[in-house]
Amino acid sequence: MNIIRTIAVVGATGMLGAPVTKVLKKQGYSVTAVVRNMQKVHQKLGAGMHLFKGDLKDKRSLRSAFADIDFVYLNLSTTPDEKKNEFKTEIDGLQNVIEAAKSARVKRIGFLSSLVKDYSETDWWVFDIKREACRILKEADIPVTIFYPSSFYENLAHLQMKGNRVYLAGDQVTKSWWISAEDYGMQVANAFRKDLESHEDFEYSIQGPEPYNMEEAADIFIRHHPNPKLKKAKAPLGLFRLMKPFSSTIDFQYNILYAINHYDEKFQSEQTWSKLGKPELSLAEWAEKQG
Ligand SMILES: NC(=O)c1ccc[n+]([C@@H]2O[C@H](COP(=O)([O-])OP(=O)(O)OC[C@H]3O[C@@H](n4cnc5c(N)ncnc54)[C@H](OP(=O)(O)O)[C@@H]3O)[C@@H](O)[C@H]2O)c1
Repeated sequence: MNIIRTIAVVGATGMLGAPVTKVLKKQGYSVTAVVRNMQKVHQKLGAGMHLFKGDLKDKRSLRSAFADIDFVYLNLSTTPDEKKNEFKTEIDGLQNVIEAAKSARVKRIGFLSSLVKDYSETDWWVFDIKREACRILKEADIPVTIFYPSSFYENLAHLQMKGNRVYLAGDQVTKSWWISAEDYGMQVANAFRKDLESHEDFEYSIQGPEPYNMEEAADIFIRHHPNPKLKKAKAPLGLFRLMKPFSSTIDFQYNILYAINHYDEKFQSEQTWSKLGKPELSLAEWAEKQG
């Protein structure tokens, strides 16, 4: 008999959470989106998901959301306005999830981390949080799967595109192995399936089929996007450096862009591809489907 496995996704309305949640559903899982804002759900996820109102700050809501759930998948992010002595999503929220998942007897937690968090030439509090989150997970006494992705194609359409402009900053001296959230979602679905009976922890680096620097990626995106009016707009990173003392958002953008521009990303996903499947969707094909 084919047992349908249940997954709860926290962060399902996120830029990357939504497409991954849809793939998990398509792949035959029974998916419960744990969301704090029900109004966003239909627009982001469409119909066909189970919905549960829950908040990372509210352990009780998480415990109820995780009843009869096999796996919890976490699409969390740290935002520029998180303050030192206040609730931190990827630390305090994560700890609440772990506690709730253990008490609900969840079999495994999957967590979206990042590859560039290991960039060591800057001292940035967000990377400290992301490294700490992985340490907490590995010591959590519940099986975990951590995914470390490179850059997602989705950045181009959701973060870099405003009107008819695609914005970039600085010159990336290295290349990133860009990937679509859809291909990544397939790998997440396969990871839960393959590691079903195991009690081990697993870590996967997640990279796409072709390496590009930011400008090459923007050029391909613009060339293949259905909107013929799209144009590239480039700013020097120095401009962000000058303005960052005045805005936590610009400070955040400066730090992530600086790290991406300098992180010497090597291809390291052979094992992920052979176990979880090779990402197939090229940036050009993905761009053609936008608009
Ligand atoms: N972009 C890239 O290329 C890339 C590459 C590697 C790794 N990553 C990592 O991917 C992660 C996720 O990115 P994303 O763009 O999908 O993030 P996002 O759009 O900010 O999504 C965050 C999600 O968390 C939910 N959330 C936040 N606080 C919550 C709370 N207290 N209770 C319940 N839900 C809460 C949000 O819900 P609401 O909708 O209600 O706000 C949203 O669904 C980040 O950690 C990032 O570092 C990104």
